[in-house]
Amino acid sequence: MSGWPLEHLWVVPDYMGRGIGRALLQHASGLAAATGVKQLTIDAEPYAEPFYIACGARRIGVIDAPLDGNPSRQRPQMLLATSLD
Ligand SMILES: CC(C)(COP(=O)(O)OP(=O)(O)OC[C@H]1O[C@@H](n2cnc3c(N)ncnc32)[C@H](O)[C@@H]1OP(=O)(O)O)[C@@H](O)C(=O)NCCC(=O)NCCS
Repeated sequence: MSGWPLEHLWVVPDYMGRGIGRALLQHASGLAAATGVKQLTIDAEPYAEPFYIACGARRIGVIDAPLDGNPSRQRPQMLLATSLD
């Protein structure tokens, strides 16, 4: 994957679901676009994938990411185009 990797996008639990995550992602996307970077790459937590899809990202793959007690866990690999057109 090329592009800038998105890392550490977190919203304090009491403030989730208010549009803050989308605003932060749009801000990061705008910074990338301003420097000519065409996409953000996202190594997503499984439960965050619907958020990223709602924000326009798409899944391009998946990697195995087992945890104790969840050996079949996988993390979606996603792309978000930074272009606003
Ligand atoms: C993922 C996270 C950043 C989303 O932030 P948020 O502020 O709650 O999200 P928003 O309120 O901006 O939601 C934006 C859109 O995503 C959708 N969305 C968010 N979480 C969703 C979920 N679990 N399932 C389905 N849709 C979801 C919202 O409905 C909204 O869509 P809409 O604008 O069409 O209504 C936040 O939940 C979080 O910090 N999670 C824990 C850390 C984490 O997993 N970070 C990602 C690491 S890869």
